[in-house]
Amino acid sequence: MPTELVASRTAVLVCQGRAAADGVVAPGLFADPTAWQFLRPTEREAVEQVRSGAAPQGWGARVEFEGVRACAEVVVPRTIAIDEAVRTHPTPQVVILGAGLDGRAWRLSALADVSTFEVDHPASQADKVERVGDLPPLAVLHFVPVDFGRDDLSGALADAGHDGTAATTWIWEGVIPYLNRADVVATMNVVQSRSAAESRVVINYQSPSLAAKLGRLMMRAVSLVARRPDPLAGEPQRSAWTPADMQRLLTDHGFVVRQDDDLLTLAGRLPMAVRQRMSLRNGRVVVADGPLTSG
Ligand SMILES: C[S@@+](CC[C@H](N)C(=O)[O-])C[C@H]1O[C@@H](n2cnc3c(N)ncnc32)[C@H](O)[C@@H]1O
Repeated sequence: MPTELVASRTAVLVCQGRAAADGVVAPGLFADPTAWQFLRPTEREAVEQVRSGAAPQGWGARVEFEGVRACAEVVVPRTIAIDEAVRTHPTPQVVILGAGLDGRAWRLSALADVSTFEVDHPASQADKVERVGDLPPLAVLHFVPVDFGRDDLSGALADAGHDGTAATTWIWEGVIPYLNRADVVATMNVVQSRSAAESRVVINYQSPSLAAKLGRLMMRAVSLVARRPDPLAGEPQRSAWTPADMQRLLTDHGFVVRQDDDLLTLAGRLPMAVRQRMSLRNGRVVVADGPLTSG
């Protein structure tokens, strides 16, 4: 995160991606009507353009259009895979780590009446609370402001009412790239210590890729030329994990990996056109159950 006062820009970008994809990409299998509701009017412009397929004139608007269009393709397979992992393994509690503008607590029927804890950086969470207004969630929702690099996650969850003796599904989507390895391990320590038997961890992470690094540099350069803010500027990528590293992280914390697929493979199973092969190949969703020995 850039400063303590700035809400996540990448959270807005992925929300724009979901709003652009809603009912358009993989229709019938992917839907997120909350995404549009959580966006501010200026953020909806690029979404409308992507949905209509009409690329705007001018560099600046075109850069944003391409960013949202690319994002729409990436969020669909990862959202479907994560929703499926949640639906097929019901638990009395769900914790969404780095929730951003995630709409699951409002849209996913599997979370109806489930005790759901949205953990996020305080600045991002304050921004979300404002955007959500009085839209009623399906879940029994608790907001838990936490900076993973600084705050006591376990204490904050306990204070918010999370029960370490009941099973939890942990969702960690699109957040690990922004954390260094020490903070990822520290967070997993808390996940392990607060996971009763029959818990599940669902993580979307990035595998290492030189091409992806170059892509981010290109995005920065193009944004500079187009005089548009680079949505990734304030949120540098801090860690990428090979599938073997990720498996080790999870097994070291007592979890058994059930599946670990790249998004390109997941997208290949869906009725959707694939343009972003590189981004899809580097993104992964891992599902693991445990812990073998609880807390
Ligand atoms: C790309 S967004 C993903 C949001 C959401 N999980 C999704 O997929 O729509 C990254 C999220 O990670 C959160 N984040 C990044 N660094 C963090 C930190 N140190 N502590 C808490 N949250 C953090 C941001 O606030 C933001 O909500």
